[in-house]
Amino acid sequence: MKIAVIGTGYVGLVTGVCLSDIGHTVICIDVDQEKVKRLQSGDPIIYEPGLEDLMKKNIEKSRLSFSGNHQTGLAGAEVVYIAVGTPQNHDGSANLNYIEAAATDIAKNITQDTVVVTKSTVPVGTNQHIKEVITVNLVHPVKVTVVSNPEFLREGSAIQDTFSGDRIVIGTDDEQAAYIIEEINQPFGIPVYKTDIASAEMIKYASNAFLATKISFINEIANICEKTGANVDAVAAGMGLDNRIGPKFLSAGLGYGGSCFPKDTNALVQLAGNHEHDFKLLKSVIEVNNNQPLHLFQKAKQRLGDFKGKKIAVLGLAFKPNTDDMREAPSTLLIQQLLEEGANVTAFDPIAIENARRILGDGLTYSESIDETLQDAEATFIVTDWEKVKNIDLATLEQRMKYPIVFDGRNCFALEAVKTANIEYYSMGRSDIANREKLAVGGSNK
Ligand code: UDX
Repeated sequence: MKIAVIGTGYVGLVTGVCLSDIGHTVICIDVDQEKVKRLQSGDPIIYEPGLEDLMKKNIEKSRLSFSGNHQTGLAGAEVVYIAVGTPQNHDGSANLNYIEAAATDIAKNITQDTVVVTKSTVPVGTNQHIKEVITVNLVHPVKVTVVSNPEFLREGSAIQDTFSGDRIVIGTDDEQAAYIIEEINQPFGIPVYKTDIASAEMIKYASNAFLATKISFINEIANICEKTGANVDAVAAGMGLDNRIGPKFLSAGLGYGGSCFPKDTNALVQLAGNHEHDFKLLKSVIEVNNNQPLHLFQKAKQRLGDFKGKKIAVLGLAFKPNTDDMREAPSTLLIQQLLEEGANVTAFDPIAIENARRILGDGLTYSESIDETLQDAEATFIVTDWEKVKNIDLATLEQRMKYPIVFDGRNCFALEAVKTANIEYYSMGRSDIANREKLAVGGSNK
């Protein structure tokens, strides 16, 4: 099958690379000529485990190529995937400018019957709109069918998710087009769920909103656990044993970030509002999430009194491990708050520093060394549960820090292990471990 993919961002690139790997001939198109040059040389630009190797392998086998030109890129394509961004407008709604531009480019350049597949996350009704834009702008008299085929990839495990996802959703009113997309994906061996276009569009938003709800729910439970003496990890484990609930997405912490959950939950609230529905539940989910980093900050402020002139270590900047993505990362709000209150912040991250600097500027020190970050710190915040952070020897915290006071926003350490260490420890939804008998009150144990 000859496939073109418009947009070489995260979704487009991973989709293109994986489709080429199962044997299709794929050309990925982007308007950014500089980017296209780098992609042609085998540089994926984004950080995603396994992507570079797969990309190089398929470029070598001549199954995967890149183009900065829609006319040549779309020539002969039987199926065209739209995978451009749908950034957030000021009011929270999804911006469809790139989608419309892609639809217009398709209409002007296709010369044969084509199935257009939308991978981008778009509000209900957008595929219908795409069809109209293409129909109005068509240059050659060919048949175009539109299919909604949302992606459910997680950053950091996108390749694995593509090859072993839970389902492939195909939304269209055209049986032949549904068959073509099913055939394209058949080598993945993943169950296919076929439905109408509007439902497919909604499945994507509803799935992300539901997962976000699970996270905010457990974070609220965590906040209550802190007040009642229960342990949220035990509560989540006990809840997860119920098959109807399941154990996943019940890790309490600083809340969700990234390029999908914050944007998609806002867009769904907006979409509901456009149809005179006040989506109160989801609004609360968003509010709870926005407050989580501040919850830990307040706990620290209460303990330390103030942050003025104190060296504060922050472990982890990326919104989650195995990515350099800083979009909507909880670290941003937390660090901004610390800087505002006069702290000297040193932040560790193995790969997100470059992206973090663009958002947070030069008002803090960045480090790729955990030891250097901890050295002489008066308190440490754990923000991203990188393996390296989870593997820190608790004795190191005690030895390196001026006062070993830890605010763990990701529950990286078992309370049993902390109890035997000489540190003061505050986590999410679990008892504080002050070890005050070991530490002089006020943190001045040294
Ligand atoms: C998500 C969806 O999982 C994916 O299906 C969709 O296509 C895109 O959005 P992603 O944003 O890459 O993927 O990250 P994910 O691993 O789902 O985590 C999202 C956020 O939730 C992270 O900030 C993570 O730290 C947080 N999270 C996740 C929790 O706080 N607790 C959990 O139990 C799980």
